[in-house]
Parts: sequence; structure tokens; C-alpha cells
Amino acid sequence: MKGVQLIAGSSHPQLAQEISQLLKAPLTPVDIRHFSDGEIYVRIKEKVRGDDVYVIQSLNAPANDHLMETLIMIDALRRASVGRINLVCPYLCYSRQDRKVSSREAISSKLVANLITKAGADRLLTFDLHADQIQGFYDIPVDHFLAYPLFAKYLKSHKLLSDAVIVSPDMGGVKRANKMADMLGLKLAIIDKVRRAHDQSEVAHVVGEVEGKRVILLDDVISTGGSICAAAETLKKFGAKEVIVCITHGALSGDSKEKVGNGHVDRLLLTNSIDIPAEKLNHKMTVISLGPLLAKVIRRIAKNQSVGALFTWEDKPVKM
Ligand code: R5P
Repeated sequence: MKGVQLIAGSSHPQLAQEISQLLKAPLTPVDIRHFSDGEIYVRIKEKVRGDDVYVIQSLNAPANDHLMETLIMIDALRRASVGRINLVCPYLCYSRQDRKVSSREAISSKLVANLITKAGADRLLTFDLHADQIQGFYDIPVDHFLAYPLFAKYLKSHKLLSDAVIVSPDMGGVKRANKMADMLGLKLAIIDKVRRAHDQSEVAHVVGEVEGKRVILLDDVISTGGSICAAAETLKKFGAKEVIVCITHGALSGDSKEKVGNGHVDRLLLTNSIDIPAEKLNHKMTVISLGPLLAKVIRRIAKNQSVGALFTWEDKPVKM
């Protein structure tokens, strides 16, 4: 990996360490400090001139601090005459604010794209954007990966695919759920959800057959846990015998641990796109690492090889 450097931001040191070990490439030391007034200072401690640099940083809570830190890191790298800056950002903040729903709202997701691009990133690697079209907010290459093949592999290896149906928790997630259903050769069902306010959700009814089925519910993010708990309750009401939830971004906030623990969700599979502290997890939750996949992706990008080639198996049905 000559001419390639990995640099960790402060949001997800574990993932950065894992990728560094898998690639047998040390993390470039960086000095990140917070002043008492809240301002952030960054200095890259080794030469990066002309190199292909991978900044590993998720933009989870505190999202604004992590975003600002990322912008300052990118600026420091650019001013150090780096060759190419690849932002490896498994979880991109503000993704859910991708359009105006009411008048006089911001499109914060586009603003984040402007900031990252203007700071000087040359490429973005990310997972499960809330909406595919966010890729178009960036005028740099965006490698947008989906985590469902990792969930599919886990479910298959744990023999959790018999009698299964894939469920999208809302209309926005149908495309993603449909891809997973196609890959596994399973049927699809959809929850028709009516949302009353920003932080409240109401589940109305289910389109498709879930009675007597093991339901695999696929979503991009869990925050308060309200959406998936309501969805699981509805699915059980409609006769589902088991509800397994697969969610890429575990932004577990508030009392989500208790909510999931006491609710109708039987299992919750998450990825480590966000560093989830052990105290936020309960016995129903399993975390699958994105590290091995990201290491392969970085290796390929560094060699200017196709990344799509890694995913050719994505469209093939998993043999059961
Ligand atoms: C909604 O469109 C998203 O895909 C998630 O379902 C939602 O944002 C999760 O939030 P919470 O866990 O707070 O219900």
C-alpha cells in the first residue's frame, strides 16, 4: 500500500483500527484537540504530500462536532499538498433532511455535501444513504454501499431464512428491501406508515403476506427506536411469528435500548457504521462489522481497480 495513508477522526477509532489491521497499514498520527471555547484544532503529524489518503470518520452524534472536525482535517490535508482525499464516512449525518417537506425548511443534506466538497474531499465512501439521490448532491465520486448483503449472509449462516419475508417499514425503503428480497429469492411486504410529526410515527397497515412468517424488516437508521417498535407491533398484530430487524446505522438515542428490549422486536442486527458503546446494546442486538468490506474497498480504490467487481455477487440469489 505504498503512497496510501489511513487517518482516523475521533468518531470511530475502533473501525479505523480494524481497517488498519486488515490492510496492515498503520494509522497516520494526527493531533486533534478541542479548545475550551469549543473550537477544534487539527494537525497531521506526518508528511502526506502526494499521497492517497483515507480519512475514516463517521458523522454520528455529536454530529456537528464530528462534521466540523472532518472539514478541518480535510483542510489540513489539502494544505499539506495531499494527492487525493477519500472520506470514508459509513454514516453521513443530516441524510434524512434531503428535501423540503414544508416551506422555509433547509435541505441540510445538500449543505453537508457542499461543505465536504468545498473543504476539498475528492471522493466519498458511505453506506445506506437515506435516499439514493443524495449521491447527486456531491460533485465528486460517491461510492454508495448497501449493508443488506452482510445481513443476508448473517441470516443465512444462522439459519434464519426459513419461512421468511422481507419487509420495508415505509414506502421510502421499498427499493432497498426489494433488492434484499430479490437476492434471497423471498417475497416482499410493505408497511404503509403515516407520520404525524418529526419525532412521531404511526403505522397504518401492511401490504403483503406476513401471517405465520418470520419477518425480516430492513431500515437505514434507528434513532429513538419508535419507528421499528411500532412496525414490529403492527407486524405481530398481522400474525408475524418473529420479527428480525436489520438496520445499517445504529444511532441509538434516548431510551431506544429499553424500547427495543421491551417491544415486539425479537432480534436487531446492526452494523458498526456508528461506534455503538456496549452500554447502549441489549441481548436482542448483534453488531456486524463493516471493517472487512471497507478494507477490501480501500485496497481496490487505492489500486484504481473496480469496486463494483466486489459486489457482483450482490445480484445473485443466496443458495438456501
Ligand atoms: C425514516 O424514514 C427512517 O428510515 C427511520 O425509520 C427513522 O428515522 C428511525 O427513527 P426512530 O428510530 O427515531 O423512529
